[in-house]
Amino acid sequence: MVAIRGYDDSTDRGQVIELWRTVFGYEAAHNEPSLAISKKTATNDGMFFVASKEGRIVGTVMAGYDGHRGWLYAVAVHPDQRCSGLGRKLVRCAEEALTEVGCMKINLQLLVTNEATSAFYKSLGYSVEPRVSMGKILHANVPVNSVAVKRED
Ligand SMILES: CC(C)(COP(=O)(O)OP(=O)(O)OC[C@H]1O[C@@H](n2cnc3c(N)ncnc32)[C@H](O)[C@@H]1OP(=O)(O)O)[C@@H](O)C(=O)NCCC(=O)NCCS
Repeated sequence: MVAIRGYDDSTDRGQVIELWRTVFGYEAAHNEPSLAISKKTATNDGMFFVASKEGRIVGTVMAGYDGHRGWLYAVAVHPDQRCSGLGRKLVRCAEEALTEVGCMKINLQLLVTNEATSAFYKSLGYSVEPRVSMGKILHANVPVNSVAVKRED
């Protein structure tokens, strides 16, 4: 049985890093998992959830709310746990957390090549919006020795 609960840094960090390495791979320093986890837990916003099955972390989702939009990040299900509704449950959990804080709209970003995940989100009620996604790295906050990761958000 899979339970979704809040991330606990005392027990979950190593497993989440391993899961993200499996699911996302590595390329960009600002997405280095341990750094991303530390930055997220420092906000203490209660919007980082894990799916645990018999003590093993098999899924994650992070949400964020800035007072205007809600965002989803790091939606990940271990390859051996896919297609059983876990991704849907993780997203619903994040949606509930964002609803509770008053969020009216959720955004997320995907690589344009990630058609499978686009289909996943469409089945959950999300739609592709005609927007140009732009970003800028604030290098002052990215440690020069960070391990790189592939996720591009
Ligand atoms: C996307 C992902 C989270 C889906 O997890 P999952 O547990 O397999 O998804 P679910 O079983 O909850 O599927 C929910 C719905 O999405 C659909 N879906 C899931 N994966 C799909 C795929 N690869 N192609 C098409 N539809 C898909 C399912 O058919 C289901 O639809 P239904 O309810 O109409 O039957 C998982 O494949 C994953 O971790 N992918 C890699 C990470 C990633 O790209 N994350 C997003 C960037 S933040």
